[in-house]
Amino acid sequence: MKNDLITKSLVATSVAALVAPLAVAPAHASPDWNKVPAKTVNAFYPGVASMEWMLNTGDHSGARGIRKGETCASCHETETAEFARKIVEGKKAEPSLDNAKGRAAAIPVKVQAAVDDGTLYLRFQWKAGSGARKHDEKNPAKLAVMLDAGKVEYGAIGGCWATCHDDLRSMPDVNTAAKDHPRAKEYDFRADGPTKYIKESRSDISTARPRGGWDKLKSAADNEALLKDGKFLEMWQWRSGEPPRSGTVSTARLLKADKDLAEGRLDNGVYTVTFKRKLGGGPGKVDLQMGKTYNIGFAVHDDHSNWRYHQVSLGYTLGVGTKGDLSAMKD
Ligand code: HEC
Repeated sequence: MKNDLITKSLVATSVAALVAPLAVAPAHASPDWNKVPAKTVNAFYPGVASMEWMLNTGDHSGARGIRKGETCASCHETETAEFARKIVEGKKAEPSLDNAKGRAAAIPVKVQAAVDDGTLYLRFQWKAGSGARKHDEKNPAKLAVMLDAGKVEYGAIGGCWATCHDDLRSMPDVNTAAKDHPRAKEYDFRADGPTKYIKESRSDISTARPRGGWDKLKSAADNEALLKDGKFLEMWQWRSGEPPRSGTVSTARLLKADKDLAEGRLDNGVYTVTFKRKLGGGPGKVDLQMGKTYNIGFAVHDDHSNWRYHQVSLGYTLGVGTKGDLSAMKD
């Protein structure tokens, strides 16, 4: 894929050179990653620790802190690898040891961000996994990113956690009858249940079992208004065995093929995945602007895993042309 990109840009360069010999050479196809600062972020195994779990004082000692507006990272940044070990071993928040067995408690992921010529680049690198139970035969690895422009409840506190509920696919309170819901097709409710959604897309979220609010849908017009008002997370997904996808998480996770969004490779046991996305916005896109900060979270599906059996980051800020937890600066 990388070669493809290089070939394309070489072709573009030589065509441009033929047609307009005096034109300025086009900008680099990608930043010089050796010069871009890197931050190592632990993606950790979360078990069934959903947003409802986070907000329940009986499950989570941090619940009151979250209600006061404290971020996950403010309490946990340095200790995720430690506490996730308890989860992956089934001592906390993990009812399915078969699926957890062999997975990493935490994966240190090297993250780099840059912006150049009106394009945002994000690069992720991590060591490939160790052979836990396979769910996804087609994709040995996947990497997902979610972005919020500060408009989604809990987006600033916990990144992806804003979308994680007890009644999603593979979560404890999933309702597999969701596939028979009259709006199942529209929102991709399948035999194994619904996908991620934000609180704003539901009229109620139950904190008693069954937790969540998959079926407390608002009207189609209300859901459309959410997208117009920027109340969604933009999601990107790179897959090692299938084309990349992008889309939104608001009423559901709705993704479409987006072949130029990402490229990735496995070299000597290390995955390198690079996303690129033009600044600006549009329907279902966060309006990315120089000088602004966004909320970001990411997840690694390693070892052919699917559903909740991933390693996730806490929520961070991404500065585009400005400082954030991750800073995408001009190189
Ligand atoms: C005000 C501080 C605070 C905030 C904010 C907070 N937590 Fe916690 N969290 C705690 C404490 C304290 C524990 C219990 C740790 C222990 O028992 O060792 C805990 C436990 C956990 C655990 C279980 C691991 C274990 O060993 O108990 C997970 C997972 C977790 N937090 C994730 C999060 C996420 C994700 C968020 C944000 C949505 C968050 N926390 C926000 C303080 C906080």
